[in-house]
Amino acid sequence: MFLFRLTTTLLLAATCSLFMTAVISTETAVTCDDSFNVHRLSCDIGVISVQAALYGRADNETCSAGRPQEQLANTDCFQEGTVDILRRRCDGKKVCELNMNTVRTTDPCNGIYKYLETNYTCLPAIHFATCEHSLAHLHCDEGQVIFVYGADYGRRDMTTCSYKRPASQIENVHCTRHTSKVADSCNGKNSCTIRASNSVFGDPCGGTYKYLEVAYVCECKSLKGHCAVSVF
Ligand SMILES: *[C@@H]1O[C@H](CO)[C@@H](O)[C@H](O)[C@H]1NC(C)=O
Ligand SMILES: *[C@@H]1O[C@H](CO)[C@@H](O)[C@H](O)[C@H]1NC(C)=O
Repeated sequence: MFLFRLTTTLLLAATCSLFMTAVISTETAVTCDDSFNVHRLSCDIGVISVQAALYGRADNETCSAGRPQEQLANTDCFQEGTVDILRRRCDGKKVCELNMNTVRTTDPCNGIYKYLETNYTCLPAIHFATCEHSLAHLHCDEGQVIFVYGADYGRRDMTTCSYKRPASQIENVHCTRHTSKVADSCNGKNSCTIRASNSVFGDPCGGTYKYLEVAYVCECKSLKGHCAVSVF
């Protein structure tokens, strides 16, 4: 009897975690360092979670086409803090496009031809944006509870919540405030509503029309009974 119960529990646990891990695979994006090149990360399913990023040069093959040997000679060249830039701009989004100028803050090796390489995974999460003054509604199926993976209030691009807004209100894309308030009020609940407004999150950039971006997953409340996690 004990063994049987144990097996059932393990099976249920396995079903839940297998589903979660099955969707996660590591993606790599590589962009050679030219001002007009765009570094693009995207997830068909789930949201971006940046694992590692390198701006510089770690081998002599990547982005080597047509380049003289001396521009490939230093393979131990990287800019500090690159991964933080990528995380700040891209984590929790479905698509993230960066101009190389945004990433390049210093020249870690003068005369060497550099590139940006990002490794990221797509976390199986529900993702949505709620425009300023509107209500964000998070909910899970019966028997499941919310776990907030990330929430940001501000503006990271010019397209989200831009309809009929003057340029002056959407052009600041470097305004984002990571917030734990969504997690604080929603984690462990089956559904939850929160207002995307300055009164809740404070104002990270006056004059900019903002939005609340949330990524969350639904988790099994307990291992008893049926709980099929379907996050999409
Ligand atoms: C990305 O992953 C590949 C394969 O595991 C690895 O060789 C590479 O060094 C990683 N890139 C960074 C920037 O960590
Ligand atoms: C990279 O370095 C290796 C060993 O130093 C050399 O054999 C190879 O030709 C180089 N490749 C390029 C593209 O320069």
